[in-house]
Amino acid sequence: MARQFFVGGNFKMNGTIKSITDIVHNLNNALLDPKTAEVVLSPPALFLLLVREHLKPEIEVCSQNVFDKPNGAFTGEISAEQLSDSKITWALCGHSERRVILKEDDTFIASKTKAALDGGLGVILCCGETLEQREANQTIEVVTTQLSAIASKTKDWSKVVIAYEPVWAIGTGKVATTEQAQEVHAAIRKWLGETVSKEVAEKTRIIYGGSVSEKNCKELAKQSDIDGFLVGGASLKPAFVDIINAKQ
Ligand code: G3P
Repeated sequence: MARQFFVGGNFKMNGTIKSITDIVHNLNNALLDPKTAEVVLSPPALFLLLVREHLKPEIEVCSQNVFDKPNGAFTGEISAEQLSDSKITWALCGHSERRVILKEDDTFIASKTKAALDGGLGVILCCGETLEQREANQTIEVVTTQLSAIASKTKDWSKVVIAYEPVWAIGTGKVATTEQAQEVHAAIRKWLGETVSKEVAEKTRIIYGGSVSEKNCKELAKQSDIDGFLVGGASLKPAFVDIINAKQ
């Protein structure tokens, strides 16, 4: 079945009002076909409203984080309800940098994912193995364990996009080969079919992240189970448009 190509740009903790405004301007003037690719942009939280205000409406805006409570005494956190109220329609959950640096565990990520979906957001749900886990042949086990924690709390997968991001490929320039990426994406789709349903397995976009560039995106995009990308460093550059148009 045809799944719409999906590309997210994760700025991480990068950018200024000027540089992010320039990126928004570049995207507003880029030749993008919303029918070919669904695009979301994920700036630092400080710039979510700025980006939403100036970015063309066919590109949605994504928060890099979301808390698992709707409101209250949680200093520094942002709720799904607040994001939705600000026309921010997506949230990243489970990014490896928040798992490793911020020590977010599978239970907390599952709770955040549920809160984001319950709050009306779409969720880009990240999973991926470390180099040690890959070298120990634990990749599929690690990824399906991470996803199982989410499955225990998620009933409606229609607004979930899964991002497979091998930790060893993030920010390293060492992109996974097409075979490596396709193998894990296919395993995730198989897991979805066995654990959730055949329909969810068919419909869910599984996107790849980890040193995606304009040079490697077309080959990766040809793989049957790679439905798009979650782009870090390259999303800050004009070449991000070429990655969005990888299927053209
Ligand atoms: O969330 C996407 C990110 O982890 C990938 O980063 O810089 O390797 O494209 P990068």
